[in-house]
Amino acid sequence: MRDSLLIKAAFSEKTERPPVWMMRQAGRFMKEYWDIKNKYSFLEMCKTPELAADVTMLPVDLLGIDAAILFSDILVTGEAMGGDLSFSQGIGPKFANPVRTKADIDNLQTDVIDRLQYVADAIKVIQQRLNGNIPLIGFAGAPFTVMSYLVEGGSSKDFKLTKLMLHNEPEMAHQLLSKIATVTADYLNLQIAAGVNAVQIFDSWAQALSWDDYKEFSHRYIVEIISKLNRKDVPVISFCKGSSVFAPLMAEAKPDVISVDWNVDLLDIKKRLPAGIAVQGNLDPHILYADKKVIKERIYRLFDRMKDEKGFIFNLGHGIMPDIPFDNVKYAVEVIKEYAP
Ligand code: CP3
Repeated sequence: MRDSLLIKAAFSEKTERPPVWMMRQAGRFMKEYWDIKNKYSFLEMCKTPELAADVTMLPVDLLGIDAAILFSDILVTGEAMGGDLSFSQGIGPKFANPVRTKADIDNLQTDVIDRLQYVADAIKVIQQRLNGNIPLIGFAGAPFTVMSYLVEGGSSKDFKLTKLMLHNEPEMAHQLLSKIATVTADYLNLQIAAGVNAVQIFDSWAQALSWDDYKEFSHRYIVEIISKLNRKDVPVISFCKGSSVFAPLMAEAKPDVISVDWNVDLLDIKKRLPAGIAVQGNLDPHILYADKKVIKERIYRLFDRMKDEKGFIFNLGHGIMPDIPFDNVKYAVEVIKEYAP
């Protein structure tokens, strides 16, 4: 795996072409995903290693991408700590027992790695199926993003309760974030021990934070997590929505790769980062709704811009939307694999 396109690009080594994978590549835009989802609940799919492996393999077999990503969810850490998690159609994730008081935080457990063993089991099944052909990416949610779901009790537009805790009860917020960070580092090390070849940390909602709040309530816990990882030969990818602003801070946590949203020119941001940090990104996922001609043009525009760079991994600036046509995603992968500068 050390010689795969993804791992070499992640370590800023030269590759014959940039590797391609996409966030949410195994999901609802695929008919084959629905064939499985119609029979099982989302959490059953995550917790049954054979099913998690079936779903993980869909984009490998149907799209020919260069890396698989474990089929799971960032909220499984919150569940293992004591959150009563469910997912329902059209509503998304829900924690029935939101974490809002000091007592709620005290009740959350941190010695929970046994409860996440099913993820290690899934990783082993997936690696057998991948058979050394392409790398497997493991992942976890960043503490701030996971905290937002625990505190709000689900998805949120403005993160009102979460931000109120940061601003009015900073000590409580730190206690909660610190507990999540402990579990997250253990959880990523569990995945590494089980055999993932790279890990990505998702801080999907960091963009809601001011610079100072990002530094105090998100960044410092990502620094802590990354410093604890057993990362030999396993590159660490740091993703956040808001990376076009926060990338210089993200670099201080010493990831191997920063995954960049689509608000910024990828080459500009790469040039502002320390040498040896690769970038991943950053096509606006909405481009995949557009005509094929536009998809090709925009991919070429990005690739032409990045053609002299070593550490470049193609991805979207955020995940694939459920109603993006499968055919367009497949076309994008073909265009990327055929690209010649
Ligand atoms: O990328 C992949 O293909 C791997 C699997 C994966 C899922 N979730 C599967 C999933 C990954 C990496 C995630 C991460 C995740 N989960 C994030 C961070 C990534 C991002 O997009 O920012 C977040 C914020 C979550 C929390 C979450 N899980 C939400 C908000 C939802 C509902 C989404 C919606 O649009 O309704 C989920 C559910 C979820 N996670 C689904 C999938 C395939 C849909 C489940 C279903 O079929 O109903």
